Amino acid sequence: MTELTDTTVPATPAEPVAFPQDRTCPYHPPVGYEPLRDGRALSRITLFDGREVWAVTAHATARALLADPRLSADRRRPDFPVPTERFQGVRDRRVALLGMDDPEHNQQRRMMIPPFTVKRATELRPWIQRVVDELLDAMIAQGPPAELVSAFALPVPSTVICGLLGVPYADHEFFEEQSRRLLRGPTAAVTQDARVRLEEYLGALIDDKAEAAEPGDGILDSLVHRQLREGALDRAELVSLAVILLVAGHETTANMISLGTFTLLQHPDRLAELRADPALLPAAVEELMRMLSIAEGLQRVALEDIEIAGHTIRAGEGVLFSTSVINRDPAQFEDPDRLDFHRSARHHVAFGFGIHQCLGQNLARAELEVALGSLLSRLPGLRLAVPAEEIPFKRGDTIQGMLELPVTW
Ligand code: HEM
Repeated sequence: MTELTDTTVPATPAEPVAFPQDRTCPYHPPVGYEPLRDGRALSRITLFDGREVWAVTAHATARALLADPRLSADRRRPDFPVPTERFQGVRDRRVALLGMDDPEHNQQRRMMIPPFTVKRATELRPWIQRVVDELLDAMIAQGPPAELVSAFALPVPSTVICGLLGVPYADHEFFEEQSRRLLRGPTAAVTQDARVRLEEYLGALIDDKAEAAEPGDGILDSLVHRQLREGALDRAELVSLAVILLVAGHETTANMISLGTFTLLQHPDRLAELRADPALLPAAVEELMRMLSIAEGLQRVALEDIEIAGHTIRAGEGVLFSTSVINRDPAQFEDPDRLDFHRSARHHVAFGFGIHQCLGQNLARAELEVALGSLLSRLPGLRLAVPAEEIPFKRGDTIQGMLELPVTW
């Protein structure tokens, strides 16, 4: 365990805050994070294993540190902070992109830019719209009521990422289940098993693609036929990349659709405003991204001593970025607990910042705008089918979202 030895300013509230904690309301930071919201840039927090690390909680400090090469994202480092027990199941191997530092990260990231540009996301919109329309047609034909996560929020991004990567959607139950186990498995053994199964599945798919005479038109096909053949990626790297793209590509967006819908239904004035003026949709998506901050607790370890905001982060100390707290820094976002589609929310860190800033953010924005916009316009009477307090949501985790969302219309 790494101890804090010297800081220039007392960093902590009286007691280090336990991290992560359960949200009491699915769209607000946990009540237990209140001590982290007292205006400090950095605080001390305690992880599940008793280790004390830094939590970054101020917006300006977060952007400076997320862009600082003295912080490493390499999960294999022995002093890398492990936020929950199950994360220990994925720390022995190199994680593509997300777990790499420059210059290796930059080499991989550059290969991945072309399929994820704003232009490409715009070109994909008509297809995303068709996916959304078909799922809404089916849901409307069978309901009301409906369970929105399984009928809509999960299949939209799952279908989209499968189509983009060249993964057969027929296998979606398998990889959705393994992603769930990977991100929310109860123990390190379950997480590890899920990762191995996903790697085996995607490894076999990549081998099939490598043997095909004619490449298909998915992103994995072009990586196999160019980067793998030319030696820019080896098979293990390509499999690791495929796991990240498949898991990050559907689970996060699905959570945003379900939690975004729930949040709008809990804010009837904002919902009415959005229905009356659909041109607000891009701003509403950005504001929901800020407010919901579904990817919580981004992890890094310091490679060198870093002086920042009156503190010294020592080499070897863990650093976690609490996006839910950072995105409610009143110095950046006025009246931050308020859902407001007229503020400038664009500088939130819900997609991260710096070299690891979300590769899929343009795609995610396109999916969220089409999915939420179509859901609201097709179902003007959309409402919860059961009282809000009875709806289960994800607890104590680093990825937030609804487990189920029963709706009617
Ligand atoms: C609303 C949905 C999404 C959210 C909230 C989200 C959030 C994030 C965040 C916070 C990071 C940075 C993590 C860090 O710095 O440690 C990240 C990175 C990443 N995201 Fe997303 N993401 C979303 C959708 C997607 C989609 C659709 C894809 C599609 C493939 C994707 C692929 C990735 C990848 C590959 C990285 C790693 C980038 C790198 O390290 O260079 N994400 N995402």
